[in-house]
Amino acid sequence: MAKVGRFITFEGGEGTGKSTQAKRLAAALEARKIAVVVTREPGGSPGAEEIRKMLVEGDPARWSPLTEALLFYAARADHTERTIKPALGQGKWVISDRYSDSSYAYQGGGRGLARETVRRIEAIAIDDFKPELTLILDLPVDAGLKRSIARANSETRFEEMDIAFHERMRKSFLDIARRYPNRCAVIDAGQDIDAVADVVWHTVKTRFRLK
Ligand code: TYD
Repeated sequence: MAKVGRFITFEGGEGTGKSTQAKRLAAALEARKIAVVVTREPGGSPGAEEIRKMLVEGDPARWSPLTEALLFYAARADHTERTIKPALGQGKWVISDRYSDSSYAYQGGGRGLARETVRRIEAIAIDDFKPELTLILDLPVDAGLKRSIARANSETRFEEMDIAFHERMRKSFLDIARRYPNRCAVIDAGQDIDAVADVVWHTVKTRFRLK
């Protein structure tokens, strides 16, 4: 039988520590001799990284919600075809820092695009391809924004959206977790890094029956 890897995503708002936790989880899996690819969105393949710049830099009003969603899914189609699926086909585990749920939460909840519109774009771009496990790191909006602004780089387009935008986005992630309880786990990201990593590891071990 062909080897098939596992696909895990991290989701959540700004400054929730997704990329740190993705690396910690990868290290824990690698310690068990599991081959892992850590990737991120927007980006994760050369073409998608080019699209990333257009999305994360510049004026918050640079794109309409629809154009923005199409750009995210254009990047995601490339990332899925060229990075994620080939790695899974080689039996590797893929951990992505953000994936499709971010489009429902940011372009849908945050920017007001109808969920049905996101769903139709998703169907064309990635044929409803889904992760097996999604870890949603949850944090009050003000705490997350404080952490992410402290990082100071040029990728501030979404951070600059107003607080109400971030509140809607957070609520959307929690709604997604309620809609898909078998796929999603909500994790309190307000704890220290080691405590969050412990909860993440416990969730992954249980979900995939690792010893
Ligand atoms: P990311 O690099 O994960 O930023 P951060 O580490 O600050 O959370 O993502 C860049 C921004 O793109 C982030 O503000 C969330 C946004 N985004 C969307 O709006 N829709 C999407 O589908 C994705 C993947 C990201």
